[in-house]
Amino acid sequence: MSSMETLSVALGERSYDIIVGGDLISKAGQLIAPLIAHEPVIIVTDDNVAGYHLGSLQGSLKAAGIASTVITLPAGENTKGYDGFQNLLTEILDNSPERRSTLIALGGGVIGDITGFAASVILRGIDFIQIPTTLLAQVDSSVGGKTGINTQHGKNLVGSFYQPRLVLADIGSLNTLPRRELLAGYAEVTKYGLLGDKVFFEWLEKNGEALIDGSDTLRQQAVIKSCHAKAAIVGRDEKETGDRALLNLGHTFGHALEAETGFSAKLLHGEAVAIGMMMAFDLSAQIGLCPIEDTTRVGTHLKAVGLPVQPTDIVDQKWDRVALLGHMAQDKKVRDGKITFILTRGIGEAFITSDVDISDVEALLDKAIAA
Ligand code: NAD
Ligand code: GLY
Repeated sequence: MSSMETLSVALGERSYDIIVGGDLISKAGQLIAPLIAHEPVIIVTDDNVAGYHLGSLQGSLKAAGIASTVITLPAGENTKGYDGFQNLLTEILDNSPERRSTLIALGGGVIGDITGFAASVILRGIDFIQIPTTLLAQVDSSVGGKTGINTQHGKNLVGSFYQPRLVLADIGSLNTLPRRELLAGYAEVTKYGLLGDKVFFEWLEKNGEALIDGSDTLRQQAVIKSCHAKAAIVGRDEKETGDRALLNLGHTFGHALEAETGFSAKLLHGEAVAIGMMMAFDLSAQIGLCPIEDTTRVGTHLKAVGLPVQPTDIVDQKWDRVALLGHMAQDKKVRDGKITFILTRGIGEAFITSDVDISDVEALLDKAIAA
């Protein structure tokens, strides 16, 4: 694999680096050392990731002379709720943190989101570092500072914008990731091509299967490209007042599908995003915005790599148009009662709109859930 590459998220005094490379966890101590003002650092991880990567991280911190302590949470989306958050805050406070303390999130998006949120409120804000270990977290959730937890009213409804001090994306850590999780992350990689970079989508059409099958070099290239795209958007629009919303391509439909499946393992977030992106392309084609050939091409690629592309690909799940519309109307992206959609004029040409006739959405949903 090629050597490590450093990108930057340019946000003035809150700017930070994203370092992407192989075997970075074993080098984390020396990379993190300049940022550590107080010890011990507190590593937050989950009980799956701990088994694979915690020893290496602890070893490298020790070798760099950095004392650490560990909080291990149960793996899975259920951890990212009020109870899990309260338990995490209690465990952090048990470690007597100071304002100069640092949390390290070692894990996927669940660990990154809950740890970042805890960092933003403990002592009114302490430092945190992201070491994402899923493809989804490396290309999306660890970058950009969205942190938060789920509530009974919906996903990620309580949280903060709070940037990490550093992101270390260790491509080698993906080798222990189950294939289904890798594929779910690949949907978010595809999103960057579909929303604004047709050339990258074409690269994925050529290289996507080999990337998923295990090429570290291709994975590293895709993570770098995705992080570049996300860093540029976040640098322009940190708090999502404008075009950061493009990153929600597929999410208005996807979140509704996830809500209907109870945010369970039946439908992973990235799988919901894949179906949601397909629905966004379908809707765009249906109302004459996007050439049908582009929609077909997107579906062909997502299917070729093994991602679901329509709600009916999820087995043993009944879908209801009214319920799905209800979830969409509760989305964080609703403005003045109007649902925001990310639609497209073709591959790489997404745009944000609230100007969609609800009867068109109903027709799309009817077609999608009957397919
Ligand atoms: P996750 O954190 O639940 O990880 C998926 C599974 O993989 C878990 O079982 C985990 O234990 C396991 N795992 C993680 N790394 C592993 C590794 N290297 N080897 C083996 N197993 C490993 O899920 P995720 O897909 O990473 O993240 C989903 C979460 O991210 C959701 O809560 C979603 O809301 C959030 N998210 C946040 C943002 C953001 O901008 N903050 C963006 C997208 C998604
Ligand atoms: N995952 C969407 C965003 O960070 O804005």
